[in-house]
Amino acid sequence: MFRRLLNGLILALTASALVLTGALCDDLWQRRTPNTFSDPRVPLYWYWNTNAAPRDVDPRLASATTDLIRFFDTGDRDALERARGLYHAVIPSLTVGTEYPALEWICEYFLASESEKSRLLANPEGARLLWYFSQSRFHELVQLLRVKVRLAPAASIGGLEGVRSAVQYLAFMRPSRADWEHTDQLMAAIDLKRGQHVADIGCGPGFHSLRFSDRVGDTGMVYAVETNPRHLEFLRVITEREKRTNIKRVLCPFDDVGIAANTLDCAFVCSLYHAIYGAMPSGLREPIIASLRRAIKPGGRFIICDNTPYVQNDSNYFGNRISRYLVEDHLSQYGFRLVRYYQLASQRYLLIFVRQ
Ligand SMILES: C[S@@+](CC[C@H](N)C(=O)[O-])C[C@H]1O[C@@H](n2cnc3c(N)ncnc32)[C@H](O)[C@@H]1O
Repeated sequence: MFRRLLNGLILALTASALVLTGALCDDLWQRRTPNTFSDPRVPLYWYWNTNAAPRDVDPRLASATTDLIRFFDTGDRDALERARGLYHAVIPSLTVGTEYPALEWICEYFLASESEKSRLLANPEGARLLWYFSQSRFHELVQLLRVKVRLAPAASIGGLEGVRSAVQYLAFMRPSRADWEHTDQLMAAIDLKRGQHVADIGCGPGFHSLRFSDRVGDTGMVYAVETNPRHLEFLRVITEREKRTNIKRVLCPFDDVGIAANTLDCAFVCSLYHAIYGAMPSGLREPIIASLRRAIKPGGRFIICDNTPYVQNDSNYFGNRISRYLVEDHLSQYGFRLVRYYQLASQRYLLIFVRQ
């Protein structure tokens, strides 16, 4: 009798453990499948990695964000001052590349005098973010902030994918980025000419695409290639406002950049190669590189901007990295020869290859 009872108990425990595991797997699967990550071959690591939840670890960030919401809701400038002070205090301890510097910049803008405002608006990323959010009277921004401090559900801004994309606009288009990245030096090294055709692969909301557009001029073309349609939509709104006709947005699958053969003088990949190389199965990784090789003209350039794992005096950058030697080895198998190497920021390098 006792033994039967024990067996029954063991059976019941095993069944509930199975149900629980199933529920957890289901949860993981659901987080993985909706949205642009619809290709089931894209591994979970890649998804988690790029879909990291907002990093509100320091409680001062939540206070700052709550104060910023209060400013937008009520016009309370003391709350705005507090928000700016808190962001300013916490940002140096955060990894480079979060959304917070953009939020601090927005605080600064609204606290500035009229003459300071025009100085701040000379920053192209700041001006674009401000204009973009002003189109919804900052409702879209405030809703994101509410989600971040759990005052609104993620579903109100398109679920995890909506949150991730909006956080990325702020992070990738942060007004302090060009100083950190030494973007002027990067552009000088890339040295695009008027009339050239260039692709920005994994362009995000278009930080580099917009600069390329200035360089190649009306006779050239920028292919802004992305798997995330929300980024391309942000870029569409900005390019229409700025009346740019030389940016073609290309929504692509994970394994093909979607550009016709022998089109490009230059293809540029910033902060994506580490993921292509390290987190994609070969069934995606190799076809995407092969599609790039086809799209680049013979003698054309393939330019990789990424982060090295080997750094002394590292900056506080905790993003993903890849050794440039791995990139070089991989691309040599596709007939790309390294011709120039630049170290831009302490961990950020630029590699220029030529298609043989
Ligand atoms: C870290 S972000 C970098 C964005 C941009 N290059 C920048 O520096 O601001 C990488 C981007 O690549 C996009 N992406 C991921 N896999 C891709 C693929 N196979 N083809 C094109 N874009 C991809 C992501 O959606 C994301 O916007």
